[in-house]
Amino acid sequence: MEKFLIAGGAELRGTVRIAGAKNATLPIMAASLLCPGICTIYDVPDLRDVRVMCEILTLMGAKVEYKDGTCQLDTRNISSAEVPENLMREMRSSVFLMGALLGRLGRVKVSYPGGCAIGPRPIDLHLKGLAALGTRISERHGYMLAEGRELRGSDVHLDFPSVGATENIMMAAVRARGVTLIRNAAKEPEVVDLQNFLNKMGARIRGAGTDTIKIEGVPSLGPTTHSVIPDRIEAGTFMVAAAMTKGDIYLENVIAEHVEPVTAKLREAGAEVDTKGEGIRVTASGRLQAVDVKTLPYPGYPTDMQPQTMAMLSGAEGTSVIIENIFANRFKHVDELRRMGAQIKIEGRAAVIRGVERLSGAFVEASDLRAGVALVLAGLAAEGETVIDNIYHIDRGYDSLEKKLKGIGAKIERITDR
Ligand code: EPZ
Repeated sequence: MEKFLIAGGAELRGTVRIAGAKNATLPIMAASLLCPGICTIYDVPDLRDVRVMCEILTLMGAKVEYKDGTCQLDTRNISSAEVPENLMREMRSSVFLMGALLGRLGRVKVSYPGGCAIGPRPIDLHLKGLAALGTRISERHGYMLAEGRELRGSDVHLDFPSVGATENIMMAAVRARGVTLIRNAAKEPEVVDLQNFLNKMGARIRGAGTDTIKIEGVPSLGPTTHSVIPDRIEAGTFMVAAAMTKGDIYLENVIAEHVEPVTAKLREAGAEVDTKGEGIRVTASGRLQAVDVKTLPYPGYPTDMQPQTMAMLSGAEGTSVIIENIFANRFKHVDELRRMGAQIKIEGRAAVIRGVERLSGAFVEASDLRAGVALVLAGLAAEGETVIDNIYHIDRGYDSLEKKLKGIGAKIERITDR
């Protein structure tokens, strides 16, 4: 099993280029199924989840070529509407394929996406939205069969601004007859990027980025090319890394507006964030101050930055409170941070963090993608050596993490079991 071996204490200094966004890439790859043709997507990060999506699309009959950040998807001959169970379990985001396949073939068979370390991952909002468009969904033996030959536009109100449900309904609605409104829609930048990709294919969508999205169904869509937006969570992760190690990092390929919640919080904690230029520069000299954080749908503080922020606040001066409002169980990293000396108390959805002078290196385990990277950040700031196990979780969402960190002075190695 591969591990990271980290020697703490280095101040991170230098320039990092942020990759394309994982959470924009995955729905856009699924959306390529909506048109028989060849789509080319640029700035695609080399991640395990992207490779899994390539595998699923290939199994469905697409010809997929992925090299040096460019992904070419030839979806002229889609033969299968069934997503293999093992791959569905491997990656929850395959649920996006429901909307795309309904829009292309009028049917889809998927198994229930597995839960994961951050809590139950229900898809009731996805199914309610697809049913409102006229999809008939039956469940048998852990599989769902969704059929909808004649999808029709509808007025869908989401109980919660679910990112995935918003994207899934958008993809099915582009081929529905008539107009669909999605109210209380997710406003994440990745939803806007999906809208832009679909509109380049000939869809007629307005309002992504606001809480109401209008989709006018069209009879057909054509292939297009697209560059994925930068990954705001990878950017936020490196911004926190600079602040935690009293470093000085310049991020290239980042959209300042998309990381605004993290910028504001880092400034509150005493770091300096300069967003005047093309990129973003983060510096910190003294010990950070404690701050309070609550995760909310965009443009609130991103839940995907919560574990990394907790690692940072574990060494800040004073007591911080983090409230996790999005996922029911996104505190799996707490026990591991405690092993490194962090003083954290959990009360329901709240974590109370009493900052310590310095964390200490330890043997810890990654439980999911963002919890894993939080432990990397803690190890970078800690005294002594940290070993992180189960780093395959981290590979799901970070392209060449250790290479980028080494490039700015971190002492980190990927080792395999001795
Ligand atoms: C997307 O997941 C992201 N994944 C997640 O990033 C991110 O944490 C999340 O949005 C919130 O921003 C991708 O885009 C591939 P949700 P998604 O539907 O769509 C509940 C990462 O680290 N809910 O907005 O699954 C759900 O249980 C990953 O990159 C329902 O109750 O998130 C959760 O509590 C982790 N019913 C909340 O809504 C539903 O039908 C937010 O989920 C759907 C969701």
